[in-house]
Amino acid sequence: MNYKCVIVTERGGPEVMQIVENILRPPTDKEVRVRVLAVPVCLPDVQARYGQTPIAPKVPFVPGYAIVGDVEAIGDGVKTAVPGNRVAALTVSGGYSEVIYLTEDKLIPVPASLDPAEVSTLILNYIVAYQTLHRSAKVKAGDKVLIIGASGGVGTALLQLGQLAGLKMYGIASASKHHILTAYGATPIDYHTQDFVEVMRQAEPDGLEAVIDGMGGDYLNRGFSLLNDGGVWVAYGNPLSFRGLLRLLGKLIWLNLLPNGKSLKLYGTTTSKFGKRPFLEDWPKLFNLLETRQIDPIIMQKFPLLEAAQANALLESGDVVGNVILVASEQ
Ligand SMILES: NC(=O)c1ccc[n+]([C@@H]2O[C@H](COP(=O)([O-])OP(=O)(O)OC[C@H]3O[C@@H](n4cnc5c(N)ncnc54)[C@H](OP(=O)(O)O)[C@@H]3O)[C@@H](O)[C@H]2O)c1
Repeated sequence: MNYKCVIVTERGGPEVMQIVENILRPPTDKEVRVRVLAVPVCLPDVQARYGQTPIAPKVPFVPGYAIVGDVEAIGDGVKTAVPGNRVAALTVSGGYSEVIYLTEDKLIPVPASLDPAEVSTLILNYIVAYQTLHRSAKVKAGDKVLIIGASGGVGTALLQLGQLAGLKMYGIASASKHHILTAYGATPIDYHTQDFVEVMRQAEPDGLEAVIDGMGGDYLNRGFSLLNDGGVWVAYGNPLSFRGLLRLLGKLIWLNLLPNGKSLKLYGTTTSKFGKRPFLEDWPKLFNLLETRQIDPIIMQKFPLLEAAQANALLESGDVVGNVILVASEQ
């Protein structure tokens, strides 16, 4: 028997992705074979394909930062996973595949009652949003917070979790997507036509408690002064080159040395080893929020799993609000 996956064969646009067949082998001693049900398509997938991130995988590779699926078979040395278990994993790559082989330490137990496509948004985008807000910025109700990149996968998760936390939110996004920001109570700013520094200074002359930044670069340089004494700038956007990474690390040292009470924190799911951050504590909180419909992930479009090229093209078009998800055919 065979299974199919989508591989990136060379650096470039969505057209470089190809569907290939592999032999469906039994898992090795320590492996679990997972039948993939849903995979979020995210900007890190796109950046990895173009080779824009300093830690981009070498081609050929299978993209796919996170998966939700069912355990299908286990190796003899596997202790806890059982065939039929619903699981998820933060794979970083490898998710665009009908089947994935993982070690059991990578598996996150998932309530089977939840929709796999919705759960897939929690495994990457909502965990980034939750941890940047609650673990990095440590926000509290009433805090004034600016969200840079508020309309995308992570951005809409920040809006929903920010509203739940009782924040006073401002969000930066294209004007055509401002309706989604206002729907969650955020004041929108259009980065095409407005100077965010000027807007924020007028709106919040006493400064902001936190900025959650998916862009970095010029926003950080110009906007750091918008923080109040004790304010935190959390940068989670991936630097797009090795030089960009070094520049960001330089800023981290410099800005945190300045005796003004403001701080810069970098957040990354891959730079912190899996398990080091309390992921396993936070995912169940998100599952509970989903189960009780306190969060409602925005899924703009679902594509069949092997139509990853079309899904990536949609994400790259800039027309997406929320999430784009790949789903197995029976979903
Ligand atoms: N650190 C981590 O572990 C981690 C995990 C996931 C993602 N990320 C990073 O987070 C960022 C967002 O990822 P995503 O998957 O949420 O992307 P996405 O869904 O494609 O959303 C991108 C967002 O960026 C906004 N944007 C684009 N250009 C902008 C500009 N010049 N100024 C302000 N906003 C701009 C878009 O706004 P409009 O569409 O409204 O123009 C949109 O809200 C990426 O850099 C990604 O690499 C990091």
